[in-house]
Amino acid sequence: MGLWGRAVVPRLTNVLLAPKRTGEIRERVCAGLSGQVVEIGFGSGHNTAYYPAAVSEVLAVEPSDVGWRLAADRVAASTAPVRRVGLDGQSLPLPDAGADCALSTWTVCTIPDAAQALAEVHRVLRPGGTLHFVEHGRAPDASVHAWQQRLDPIQKRVAGGCHLSRPIAELLTAAGFTLTKLDTYYAPKEPKAFGYFYEGVATRS
Ligand SMILES: C[S@@+](CC[C@H](N)C(=O)[O-])C[C@H]1O[C@@H](n2cnc3c(N)ncnc32)[C@H](O)[C@@H]1O
Repeated sequence: MGLWGRAVVPRLTNVLLAPKRTGEIRERVCAGLSGQVVEIGFGSGHNTAYYPAAVSEVLAVEPSDVGWRLAADRVAASTAPVRRVGLDGQSLPLPDAGADCALSTWTVCTIPDAAQALAEVHRVLRPGGTLHFVEHGRAPDASVHAWQQRLDPIQKRVAGGCHLSRPIAELLTAAGFTLTKLDTYYAPKEPKAFGYFYEGVATRS
C-alpha cells in the first residue's frame, strides 16, 4: 500500500466518519452488544463511545497503525477494555465459537475478500452470537448500481480498497448468518452511489 493508503486514508476516514455525521447510526448498531465483542475494521475507534455497559471486552482487528494511533484517546476513555488482537479480518487469531458478539461498521466494503472475513466472524462467534453491522453496498436501483460499477475502480484507488457495490445481505447469508434485523436505505446526505446502507443484526444459528 502506498503513502496515500497508509497515511492519508485513515485520517480522512477519521474525519468523514466522525460521530457528528454517523453517531445516530453507531448508537443504533451498537445497541444490544454484550460480553466479548470482536470489532473488525476498528479504525480510529469511533464506536467506543457507543458500547453498551453490558460489553465486557472488545477485541479490535485493524490493519492500520495510523488508525490505531488515532484511536488512542478513545480507547483510553472506553468503558469496556479494548485490545488490538489482529490485523486482518480475513484471518482472525481467535478460537472457534468464543465471542458473544461482533461489530462491523463500514468495513466489509474494504476487506479484500469479504466472504472470507464474514466466514471468519461466523467461526469465532458462539452459536446464537450476533454480528451488528452497518455497511454501504449494492443499490437496488439499476441506474445507481450502474454508477457504482462505473465508479468502483476509482473508489478502490482513492479510498483504500473500498468497493461500492458489494451485495452485503447476500454475503452475510452466504457466510451462514441469519439476518434477524435488516434495514436498507439511502443515507439522506450521501450521493446515492456511495450511500446505500445495510444496517442490522446477523445471527449465527
Ligand atoms: C471505512 S473504514 C471504517 C472504520 C471504522 N469501522 C468506523 O466505523 O469508523 C474501514 C476500516 O477497515 C479497515 N480494514 C481494511 N482492510 C481490513 C482487513 N483486511 N481486516 C480488517 N479491517 C480492515 C481499514 O483499515 C479501516 O479502518
